[in-house]
Amino acid sequence: MAAVKSPLSEAAQKVTGEALQGALVDLVDLALYAKQAHWNLVGPRFKVVHEHLDEIVDLARQAQDDVAERAVAIGVNPDGRSRTIADRTRLQQLESGYLDDDKVVAAVTGTLFEIIARFRERIAATDEPDPVTQDLLIGITADLEKQHWMFQAQS
Ligand SMILES: [Fe+2]
Repeated sequence: MAAVKSPLSEAAQKVTGEALQGALVDLVDLALYAKQAHWNLVGPRFKVVHEHLDEIVDLARQAQDDVAERAVAIGVNPDGRSRTIADRTRLQQLESGYLDDDKVVAAVTGTLFEIIARFRERIAATDEPDPVTQDLLIGITADLEKQHWMFQAQS
């Protein structure tokens, strides 16, 4: 079977692969989370929050592709299977049914804050093993922090 030859040492590949897989789980579930809120939203701020949630979806979907493809580039297989995401996600689930706009803004702000903390841990972890992956994670974190600010500013 063909395999990608990694530019990294085995030890660096392991640390970097774990950082990328963790990022993938966060980002796949973030896209699902934001869509669930986008669909079930109610309240006086519906329009602006509904549209803003799709910015999170777009960010998460692009970033999940970037981290998954970076994983393959260093010879690590990304695991984006639904069961893997469900087993490993650390995002708190939204309630089922209609979601009040104020509660959604607070929930998204808190969720982004937690994801950002994990991304910053991954940035620290990849500093030595793979600065190329670290650079990718830094860029995604900047986008997540911008969205965190924008959601926080609405609460
Ligand atoms: Fe939509």
